[in-house]
Amino acid sequence: MSTKQFDVVVIGGGPGGYIAAIRAAQLGMNVACIDEWKNDKGGPALGGTCTNVGCIPSKALLQSSEHYEHLNHHFADHGITADNVKIDVAKMLARKDQVVKQNNDGIVYLFKKNKVTFFHGRGSFVAAKDGGYELKAGEETIQAKQVVVATGSNARALPGVPFDEENILSNDGALRVGATPKKLGLIGAGVIGLEMGSVWRRLGAEVTVLEGLPAFLGAVDESVAKEAAKVFKKQGLDIQLGVKVGEVKTSKKGVSVAYADAKGEAKTLDVDKLIVSIGRVPNTIGLGADAVGLKLDERGAIVVDDECKTNLPGVWAIGDVVRGPMLAHKAEEEGVAVAERMAGQHGHVNFNTIPWVIYTSPEIAWVGKTEQQLKAEGVAYKAGQFPFLANGRARALGDTTGFVKFLADAKTDEILGVHIIGPFASELISEAVVAMEFKASAEDIARICHAHPSLSEATKEAALAVDKRTLNF
Ligand code: FAD
Ligand code: NAI
Repeated sequence: MSTKQFDVVVIGGGPGGYIAAIRAAQLGMNVACIDEWKNDKGGPALGGTCTNVGCIPSKALLQSSEHYEHLNHHFADHGITADNVKIDVAKMLARKDQVVKQNNDGIVYLFKKNKVTFFHGRGSFVAAKDGGYELKAGEETIQAKQVVVATGSNARALPGVPFDEENILSNDGALRVGATPKKLGLIGAGVIGLEMGSVWRRLGAEVTVLEGLPAFLGAVDESVAKEAAKVFKKQGLDIQLGVKVGEVKTSKKGVSVAYADAKGEAKTLDVDKLIVSIGRVPNTIGLGADAVGLKLDERGAIVVDDECKTNLPGVWAIGDVVRGPMLAHKAEEEGVAVAERMAGQHGHVNFNTIPWVIYTSPEIAWVGKTEQQLKAEGVAYKAGQFPFLANGRARALGDTTGFVKFLADAKTDEILGVHIIGPFASELISEAVVAMEFKASAEDIARICHAHPSLSEATKEAALAVDKRTLNF
């Protein structure tokens, strides 16, 4: 049988890889995608970390647990009460699995629609050959003119403390806990720590988060981080900063974590389950990088230039396996840009306008620079802030926590950053991204008609606040 030939082979079917494959096919290339993720029956499960054990299942659990919290604590304000409210964790997990499956199936459909050939199995480089590359796709050998590596990342373990997914959980196990633990520990108060901590706290777990750094949410605008710390504390999340984690022991009873607190005092945290969420490492396991001399950096990430070109001709790399934020939408944008570059077009990713969202309640979302970054860079700026407390729609929703904050250039009024903590911040941030992409000024937003009553009016008012002329506060 002759070797199958492709214009482009994408290794990895996460948000970076599957989107790159679809865009390349749209542009007329003959494309294959190789992905090794297995569902619980051993079949394919396209979508990578994001779909299987990341963005999608975590948001499903955040939604279920938020409904439960509302029914228990907030609906009474609306005159709605219910006796005997229960949570069926098994059913909640089954729903989450169904949401994941819908997304897996959606990508299979998209591959068929766009005529992308899919191989289920491991993809690896065999050799450079005939101006392209010979690759293994599971058991098959195939040939590609160009290759896009989108192999993603894996959870980082504490040194000497491997994940067993029973007691010591990565993001994978954290999304499959079969019953609400009485006591839950998390190492790392980053994005996963806060999102997964919120899920299990809402369902009744006593949650303690141990964070190594002395500052809470160091990458977030300070005023937002301060507000978030206040709200999470009130909700009952015990977040301890500046700790040094020591020995971690597991037993039949659970997990015991020895640590020194911020004052250096020796302490022990005993919990039923421990989630370790201390960041992720780029994944090139089994890729055969050595076979072709693909260059990796000291963290194991594939070295790329601004255009996602690696050191090898015709080999590109995108998403979590390269530098930059580990976000699904960043991986997707790189996938589109690389496909367009392979087609001779000028694909572009604007790293200054990549939004971040933390899906806690309240949600936290931002784009562009923080106030502390602008200060450090010596940029003269003006700030404007508007609280949801003064927004009619937020009052009607019954959720007035937080604010919208604008940072604009002192001279030109160009928007440099927008920071939101509050209801639906994940949706509101899009307006700020669009504005920054079009290099809008704060006044541009302030002069645009926003629907009433809507949360987006808080965005308009924060833009007005830059010029100290809010109308409703
Ligand atoms: P991945 O999604 O990791 O996909 C890589 C794929 O390649 C996988 O299917 C893997 O099996 C496959 N693969 C690897 N090596 C090979 C090989 N040699 N051969 C064949 N296949 C291979 N980001 C957001 O933007 N928003 C969120 O809300 C969000 N929530 C998250 C929640 C959690 C709990 C976690 C862990 C992450 C979350 N992320 C979120 C981050 C997001 O999941 C990643 O940034 C994103 O998945 C990266 O996409 P990727 O395509 O680079 O890699
Ligand atoms: P993270 O980088 O967000 O947070 C890790 C935290 O662990 C940091 O605060 C760090 O200081 C702390 N830490 C590191 N080592 C430690 C140690 N030994 N002891 C105590 N604390 C320690 O990483 P996280 O939460 O694991 O998530 C990984 C990535 O996945 C995120 O950076 C993000 O890119 C992505 N993600 C995105 C989401 C979203 O967009 N909503 C949701 C979840 C994950």
